Amino acid sequence: MRLPTSPLLSLALLACLASEQATARSLAELNSRAPVQPRRTDSILIDPAAQPNLPSAGAAEKAASSVGLNLDDIQGDILIGMKKKRELFFFFSITDAKKFKAKLNKEILPILTTTTQLLSVSKQPVTALNIAFSQSGLTALNITDSLGDPAFAGGQLKDAANLGDPGTADWVPQFVGTKIHGVILFASDTVNNCNNELTKLKRTLSNTIKEVYSLQGAARPGNQEGHEHFGFLDGISNPAVQGFSTPLPGQSVVSTGSILVGEEGDNLIDSRPAWAKDGSFLVFRQLKQLVPEFNKFLTDNPIRIRGLTPKQGSDLLGARMVGRWKSGAPIELSPRVDNPTLGADRNRNNNFTFAVPGQDVANSTDQTRCPFSAHIRKTRPRADLGTPEDSAHHIMRAGIPYGPEVTSREASSKKTSVERGLAFVCYQSNLAAGFQFLQRVWADNVNFVHRGVGVDPIIGRATGSPANAPRVIGGLDPRNASRPTTLTTDFVVSQGGEYFFAPSLSAIRNTLSV
Ligand code: HEM
Ligand SMILES: *[C@@H]1O[C@H](CO)[C@@H](O)[C@H](O)[C@H]1NC(C)=O
Ligand SMILES: *[C@@H]1O[C@H](CO)[C@@H](O)[C@H](O)[C@H]1NC(C)=O
Ligand SMILES: *[C@@H]1O[C@H](CO)[C@@H](O)[C@H](O)[C@H]1NC(C)=O
Ligand SMILES: *[C@@H]1O[C@H](CO)[C@@H](O)[C@H](O)[C@H]1NC(C)=O
Repeated sequence: MRLPTSPLLSLALLACLASEQATARSLAELNSRAPVQPRRTDSILIDPAAQPNLPSAGAAEKAASSVGLNLDDIQGDILIGMKKKRELFFFFSITDAKKFKAKLNKEILPILTTTTQLLSVSKQPVTALNIAFSQSGLTALNITDSLGDPAFAGGQLKDAANLGDPGTADWVPQFVGTKIHGVILFASDTVNNCNNELTKLKRTLSNTIKEVYSLQGAARPGNQEGHEHFGFLDGISNPAVQGFSTPLPGQSVVSTGSILVGEEGDNLIDSRPAWAKDGSFLVFRQLKQLVPEFNKFLTDNPIRIRGLTPKQGSDLLGARMVGRWKSGAPIELSPRVDNPTLGADRNRNNNFTFAVPGQDVANSTDQTRCPFSAHIRKTRPRADLGTPEDSAHHIMRAGIPYGPEVTSREASSKKTSVERGLAFVCYQSNLAAGFQFLQRVWADNVNFVHRGVGVDPIIGRATGSPANAPRVIGGLDPRNASRPTTLTTDFVVSQGGEYFFAPSLSAIRNTLSV
């Protein structure tokens, strides 16, 4: 039964239903049966054809119950991926822990959005809300249990050099220090909705927290929806989590415990406090992107192959740096020109392994289709590490672009003057095996996956090197894989961030808010 959207009308209708049937059923029962306030007809989430579909609420519930997973207790952002239309990140510090705990319990917990709620439009709130805490935030709340994750315990600032950041001069000043106790994520289809919810919450929490920093993210406009600022479709290859979604061809399949703490497949399951179960470590990184500079580099250095125009040669260079064309089509399957039909086909656009028939992966030198240094090959080497694919280093990416479109002035001057980039978010049960590993051991390592292939040209930097130090990348020229390409601009500049833990709703109810 659908009830009207107006809260007043719904109340009136409910009241009359209630009086008719009050003897048989309590109002609470009625409440749990029908969506009392159908708040949405339009989703909070984007849905490009190229990205894996989210499971239907029914399918997810069935899969979850088969592995004993409670999707009503898991915060909604964790398993959803890069799909928000608008998202506001609000970073705060706790000024009065006792009062904050009371508000957390009475005011925040009831409006936290669960996984189940995000999966059907009719259950989505106007603005979805999630919360996560840093180590210093847990400490402020008197939580003394170790979560068993040293990177989380130390905080991201301590990890800056380890991640390849050239110091913290470019960091947002508010990320330098340990003053950020938590982050609240607001997701909706309009910036206004996010702001309204923030204003309301700030009023509620007024004498318990202090705003430290905030960042508004938004899917890019028009046909760029789902694309990051360099222009490439994102959010294609997130893992399929057992007990949640059904894998598409080529999608990695990960155990529940590789994303959720305390679940089957979490290697540290025995050393986690019980309350940490079904939480996940949230990495936040503000990654500035120098889009005009990136485009200039491509324009200045087209790959020259007979039959390709200079423009096509530039596009090919960009595609080889990423490993996918702007449409999302993988260069492994479409090595010379973009193939938007392939890009948009979720059943085919992730169906490859980098294995070359007849060649042993361990000594393969073949980069004619995809360079070893390409962003997607660095961060998921697939068959390069043997088959079946290594399953230890997968993350659930859930970021969103921030900042305006490139202005005509920036495009013509080929210089960034307004900041834009990726509000990078990813979830995993173990930072040392997830984000930190991907960044440090793979992307920043000139000798991964083979000696001398260079760093990831999108996000990689040799540890300890100064900003814009020359980066020598192998394999970008398909005619001569041994010809190195030297990059003298960091097209992605880390503005820092923090490591957080996004707890289950029951952890908030029973542990963090008491
Ligand atoms: C501004 C910075 C970044 C940009 C522009 C960017 C862009 C992209 C694009 C266009 C894709 C291909 C679409 C897809 O497969 O979903 C991708 C995939 C991916 N990225 Fe990034 N990314 C950035 C930062 C990062 C960081 C910091 C990490 C982790 C350390 C990361 C890890 C991954 C992973 C794991 C994949 C999927 C690889 C696969 O499964 O094939 N990215 N990224
Ligand atoms: C934290 O613990 C200390 C020592 O037990 C106590 O004095 C304080 O009231 C606690 N604070 C909160 C917010 O629970
Ligand atoms: C996926 O790739 C395999 C191997 O190349 C192929 O046999 C299969 O038909 C592909 N699946 C789809 C849906 O294209
Ligand atoms: C690659 O390694 C395999 C053994 O792992 C060997 O049989 C093969 O000859 C090697 N191929 C090349 C080109 O070195
Ligand atoms: C390939 O590039 C290397 C390094 O720049 C160079 O020494 C070699 O001559 C090139 N090979 C061809 C066939 O152009």
